[in-house]
Amino acid sequence: MKAKEWLNAMPSQFGTYDVDVISVEDYKGIVFSGMGGSGIVGDVLKLLLERRGTEVPVVSLHGYELPPYAKQDWLLVAVSYSGNTEETISTVQEAMQRRLNIICVSSGGKLEEIADKEGFRFVSVPPGYAPRYAFGFMLSAVMSLFGFGRSLEKIRKNLDENKEEIKETAYNIAQVLQNYIPIVYGTPLTEPIAFRWKTQINENSKTLCYTAVLPELHHNEVVGLDNPIARNLCHFIILHDPEDHPRVIKRVEITEKIFKELGLSPVVLRGKGESLEERLMYLAYLEDWVSFYLADIYGYDPLPVKIIDRIKESLK
Ligand code: F6R
Repeated sequence: MKAKEWLNAMPSQFGTYDVDVISVEDYKGIVFSGMGGSGIVGDVLKLLLERRGTEVPVVSLHGYELPPYAKQDWLLVAVSYSGNTEETISTVQEAMQRRLNIICVSSGGKLEEIADKEGFRFVSVPPGYAPRYAFGFMLSAVMSLFGFGRSLEKIRKNLDENKEEIKETAYNIAQVLQNYIPIVYGTPLTEPIAFRWKTQINENSKTLCYTAVLPELHHNEVVGLDNPIARNLCHFIILHDPEDHPRVIKRVEITEKIFKELGLSPVVLRGKGESLEERLMYLAYLEDWVSFYLADIYGYDPLPVKIIDRIKESLK
């Protein structure tokens, strides 16, 4: 099965791209634009750039329109695996009108045509994959552009070394999630990966899944736990990182305690690895396998996303 083959080979997608590194300070701000399996790339880059102390604003956009403050001297990085996603193309067209600097990343499609025609920088990723299964290629391309190239080899090694353990843990988590609505809680450092858990479970396992983030969820979501009918339909996963703010870590512990008092057993996870990037990709790879095994339990082929294709077709 293709999905399994791609997942087994996913670690090898991580590697440095031979590209000229962008100097972020040359721009007044950076906008990443992308949807779904491509959009996650901007979310991760925003997090990494902010952790690196980048002083220019960084925005990750999933939609048609650029924010009004994105003007000349800003950089748009448009990521679309197919190169044909209309929201992403719309942001490129708007950026052209406002004279932003533009870089396009895709495996071909209209984005490549536009980049060729207009002379924009273009970074090509290997074609032939379902977009969400090309995450490692797209992330590697964009991380390389922003000077995170060195981390990529370490990510690959970390995933390769922990692959068997990741698969085993994923298999066990999938068993636990069976017949429940998975709810994935993230923290400021794991938020993009919590969202990736949600989207991969939606697309691969063909089931609903929701996400919320600490500390915000301590101000609303937790009250929803009062209702036993609702909470007993769900199974909870909490993703956090040792570098999270100490008060966030404290909040993870409190959340776990509250869940236990309610008779719920959340799966609490930290990624393995020396750096934040390695730990985040550990959690992302774990989720790839969780969603794969959950699809198997429910008897679904993880690859087709018929309803997404149908909606794209209806919009043509
Ligand atoms: C399909 C998938 C989707 C797409 C999304 C945008 O595998 O993951 O979420 O990523 O529909 O399409 P692209 O990535 O081609 O811009």
